Formats: sequence, structure tokens, C-alpha cells
Amino acid sequence: MGVRFRGWGIALPDRIVTNDELSQTLDTSDEWITERTGIRERRVGGSAVSLGVIAGRNAIEDAGLLVGDIDFLILATTTPDRLCPASAPMIANELGLNCAAMDVNAACSGFMYGVRTAQGLLETGSRRILVIGSENLSRWVDWSDRNMAVLLGDGAGATVLEYDADDTDVLSFVLGADGSAADLLTCEHGGYFQMDGKEVFRRAVRVVVDSAEQAMKIADVSPDDIALVIPHQANVRIIKAATQRLGIPMERTVVTLDRYGNTSSSSIPLAFFDARENGRIKSGEYALMTGFGAGMTWASAVVRWSR
Ligand code: ACO
Repeated sequence: MGVRFRGWGIALPDRIVTNDELSQTLDTSDEWITERTGIRERRVGGSAVSLGVIAGRNAIEDAGLLVGDIDFLILATTTPDRLCPASAPMIANELGLNCAAMDVNAACSGFMYGVRTAQGLLETGSRRILVIGSENLSRWVDWSDRNMAVLLGDGAGATVLEYDADDTDVLSFVLGADGSAADLLTCEHGGYFQMDGKEVFRRAVRVVVDSAEQAMKIADVSPDDIALVIPHQANVRIIKAATQRLGIPMERTVVTLDRYGNTSSSSIPLAFFDARENGRIKSGEYALMTGFGAGMTWASAVVRWSR
């Protein structure tokens, strides 16, 4: 008994903000941002709902399904359109879904938390679940704060997960949370994102490596078996440090942050979509998805690509 990934979809705002554009209003430079983060540009615009609708519709179409086939919607977002109601029911309404819909907030680990929740629901009666990661981080950025403004971007990614009585694409899952680190990365009501970047960096490498090693152990695969790492896209230096410790070369790692920046819950599905579009993962191969974020939360999973 297990779950299958049936389709993927994404949504990106048209507006591209380059490092050079940010340098016109902030005391920063393309050289600093590229060297310290790997980010060259990011997309800005839309909302969690508007981007989520497009990504969700694309994923349902990609799966060859109809809206009536979906029996649960999970939206991972750190930036819902409103505090109340949740954004998932509004997305469901715009898509024409007639099913349960809820938000999950685990910051940048949110999409992985959503997939794990969907897995549990599929194993207990649901049949096809739409999981969306959608973020409008730019709304909560102080554009005069160079510490955050250079890092974040908007976008959405989605997948349809389907129950399978015989086999599974999801081989292991390791999730974690440590609320004692809550103050490292915050956004107060009506405020802006603030972060202790150095400490987040240090902890991120540790939790990614630990959880990824556990996920590989549970799935009974070695780093050599992993065809592709699909990491959360926060900083290319974090990705390099973690994959080096895991013993997986960068050639087997997906990087999209150069084009999209850090899109929190959306970054892993955006990266998975990118890998698939570029033919970087083949049927039967193993991928390691791994992320971390505010909370702190973290998540790693080994999946087998079966399509
Ligand atoms: N442009 C130019 N200079 C800058 C900028 C900028 N945008 N930002 C900071 N600096 C300066 C600092 O003031 C400092 O100057 P000083 O030496 O005179 O004091 C210098 O550059 C070095 O700053 P550091 O903070 O040491 O730079 P670091 O190499 O640590 O990079 C960064 C900072 C990019 C934030 C890094 O720490 C990082 O990526 N941390 C993790 C971020 C992350 O993963 N966030 C996760 C999630 S986001 C979310 O959940 C929504």
C-alpha cells in the first residue's frame, strides 16, 4: 500500500527583479548577492491564492485528471492571503473542487509536511490529494532591509498524490521541529520577515544532513543510490555544504534559486518540476527531497520516480 506522484504544476509571477535592480535602492550589489547566496533574480507578484490556483490547475491537468477526482486539498504556505479564513478553501473554490481543504504552515518545510500529511490521508481512505506550496513572501519583506530583501521570491508548485494498493513512490519520511529556535526567523503580525541568518545557516546544514541520513537509512539506500537531490532553495552555500557532507556531488543536485530566490514552501515542488522538465530524473531512480525552515522545522524524504 502506498502513494504515487501523478502530476506536477507550477506558477510564477511575470515580474523579474534582478540583483542589479535591488542594488539601485539598497546598499548591496549583484556580486555580493551572487557570491553569498547564488541568487541572481527572483519573481515578485501574485498571492498565495492566485499562484496556488494556477499551479494546482496545472498539476491536475498534468495528472490527466478532472477537478472531481480530487478529494482533499492541502496548501502549504507561510504567507496566506488572510489570517482567517485559510487560503486553501479559496483555492478549492476557484478550482471548482468540492472537497476538504486546509492550510499547513511549516515554513520552508511546508510542502514536505503537506506531502507527509497527504500520505497519511491516502493510507486511511482518501484517493487523490492535491498538495500545493504557494508563497507571496514579497508582501512581508521590508524592501529597505538588505538582509531579507535579497533572499526571498514568490511562486507556487503543486503535485497530485494518488493512492496505490500495490506499491509506493515514497520510501521514507523524516520530519522534525524545534520551537526553541523560533526566534531565529520570524514575521510578527503586521510586520516583516527578520532573521539571524548566520545561525539559521549553521543549524540548516546540521538538520538537513541529519534528517537526510536518517531518511536514506530508513529507505535502505546509500548516497550513491541517490540520482538527484531536490533541496530547499535558500542559499547555494547551504546546499553545497550539506550535499558535500552527505557525499553527493553537486552535479546530482537541483538548483533553481539562481532564478527564483527562496520561495519557502514552493521551492521544493518548483525544483522537482524543473528537474522533470529537464529530464534529470528517470523512472525507477531515487531522489532525496530535503528542506528546513522557520520554526525551526525540517523534513527529508527518499522517493522513487515511477513515471
Ligand atoms: N548586501 C551587501 N552586504 C550585505 C548584505 C547584502 N544584501 N547583507 C549583509 N551584508 C553584509 C553584512 O552587514 C556584513 O557586513 P560586515 O562584515 O561589515 O558586518 C557582511 O555582509 C557579511 O554578512 P553575513 O551575515 O556574515 O553574511 P553571510 O555570509 O552569513 O550571508 C546570509 C548572509 C545570505 C543571510 C546567510 O547567512 C544565509 O543564507 N543564511 C540562511 C538564510 C536561510 O536559509 N533562511 C531560511 C529561510 S527564509 C524563510 O523561511 C522565509
